[in-house]
Amino acid sequence: KPVVLSGIQPSGSMTIGNYIGAINQWLDMQEHSDCHFMLADLHTITVRQDPKEFKSQVLEGLAMYVACGLDPEKSTIFLQSQVPEHAQLSWLLNCYTQMGELNRMTQFKDKSNNASSSNSGLYTYPVLMAADILLYQADAVPVGDDQKQHLELARTIATRFNNIYGDVFKVPEPMIPKQGARIMSLQDPLKKMSKSDANPKAYIKLLDDPKQIAKKLKSAVTDSDEQARIYFDNAEKPGVSNLLTLLSVATKRSVADLVPEYEDKMYGHLKKDTADAVVAMIEPIQARYYELRADETELLRIMRIGADKASARAAPTLAKAYAAVGFIANN
Ligand code: AQP
Repeated sequence: KPVVLSGIQPSGSMTIGNYIGAINQWLDMQEHSDCHFMLADLHTITVRQDPKEFKSQVLEGLAMYVACGLDPEKSTIFLQSQVPEHAQLSWLLNCYTQMGELNRMTQFKDKSNNASSSNSGLYTYPVLMAADILLYQADAVPVGDDQKQHLELARTIATRFNNIYGDVFKVPEPMIPKQGARIMSLQDPLKKMSKSDANPKAYIKLLDDPKQIAKKLKSAVTDSDEQARIYFDNAEKPGVSNLLTLLSVATKRSVADLVPEYEDKMYGHLKKDTADAVVAMIEPIQARYYELRADETELLRIMRIGADKASARAAPTLAKAYAAVGFIANN
């Protein structure tokens, strides 16, 4: 079975973008791959978090993973901070990563605004990500477009290390999800929908109630086409196309199949139908979520099983890398 690793940062409440672009795709993968899904909480502290809120976001994220259908029996579901090998390998890999390489990372440039006061965790974020991937000897890493550069760096680091010490790490392949999986902000359809957007009207959370969803979609930015024609064209009609993508995913029907039905309809119709479809898609997830979130014992059990399974897989890789550089094992 191919080994897969992916994760989401518990940096806020998950959006339907996270669901459609990531979790929903993982559901298929967990049927035929050896999947590792983490909550990347070590990555999350590169941005300052309120400890209480952070804790609750992590528990929410874990319950949400399972509510969406990720199965702790089939897959390894874990919190990154509970598997110490991630931080340990990350340090080692830092010593095999060039500053020039990190300087070129566009996410760092965007997030730090090049300020010298930005924390060095943000700078070495891609090295931790390389550790996440290489620890599990992952064959494939499902990532969004924006993470491709980081994955490329993980490949560079792995290859560099292997060239010095022999085959320690598997060099991972990116797995870019099928098209149409990128959900855009409801307020600025040229920007991706982000859970940490300052404007809550820009995203739909998986935990938004039906009224909020209808309201947010109603105020979604479309365009000023006087005839209000509804068709799919990302360049000409990014807002409308985003709604069509949402409707398509939520109804499991193709965009081509849906568009003719809106020939004589207004944007309002499309927004209403999209809201109904999104609500229907996430209602069962919410029901399972609330049940699980109330059961802290079960969440702790899932966490523990996941951390043990992940650590058992990660430890041999770390040991191999440690031995390769000449660290003396304590056994
Ligand atoms: N709008 C989106 N459309 C499709 N996929 C998306 N993903 C995120 N937003 C969309 C996918 O979700 C996974 C995990 O994302 P992350 O939390 O690790 O970081 P992110 O991509 O930066 O997500 P956010 O929601 O935008 O978080 P913040 O606001 O904290 O930066 C990835 O697979 C991503 O592709």
